[in-house]
Amino acid sequence: MLKLAVFVSGGGTNLQAILDAIDEGRIADARVEVVISNNRKAYALERAAQKGIAHLCISPADYADRDAFNRELLQKTASYSVDLIVLAGFLVVIPPEMIAAYKNRIINIHPSLIPSFCGKGYYGLKVHEGALKRGVKVTGATVHFVDEGTDTGPILLQKAVAVKEDDTPERLQRRVMEEAEWKILPEAIRLIAAGRVQVENGKAIVR
Ligand code: GAR
Repeated sequence: MLKLAVFVSGGGTNLQAILDAIDEGRIADARVEVVISNNRKAYALERAAQKGIAHLCISPADYADRDAFNRELLQKTASYSVDLIVLAGFLVVIPPEMIAAYKNRIINIHPSLIPSFCGKGYYGLKVHEGALKRGVKVTGATVHFVDEGTDTGPILLQKAVAVKEDDTPERLQRRVMEEAEWKILPEAIRLIAAGRVQVENGKAIVR
């Protein structure tokens, strides 16, 4: 059984997609042990509560400095003995100690086709604003392993989404979620739970 910690900051629609996939048997052998949010008001926490899943808020604002926050995040996560950390719209930088402790065991969903519209400053709606401003005709989403950089780790899955003439950032964000994110994030977990993913020479291989 692959034990998951899901880190969230907002609405938690990606968390919901994971929970639904587990409930419906599309992901076998995985269980969400804990949901951790940096934002007390995140609706994602409510989604966890409704399912009776352990959930907690660890906010940088509640700690004397970043090191204290990082230590708490690491310790709390460790206390749930998870095998995989899933960043599902988590908008806080993961501390290097955590990346080292969970090498190739942290995945992130990003709402573009990496390496486009990613890295520092590209998160949430800003990604879609960037795509529309540049006038790309195709965008999408990426699931990747997390390394020390921002959105630089090995790419596991990607799915393309067509941009429409009349798209607004909000409309495009919704379609990228529906057509790509909510599909490839559960699929990535399914593949990892089935033992089908390996990272070799900086690349994620699915067998
Ligand atoms: C999602 O679109 C996710 O891809 C994005 O935040 C949103 C969270 O929505 N993540 C990033 O931008 C990370 N760089 P959700 O809370 O409804 O899942």
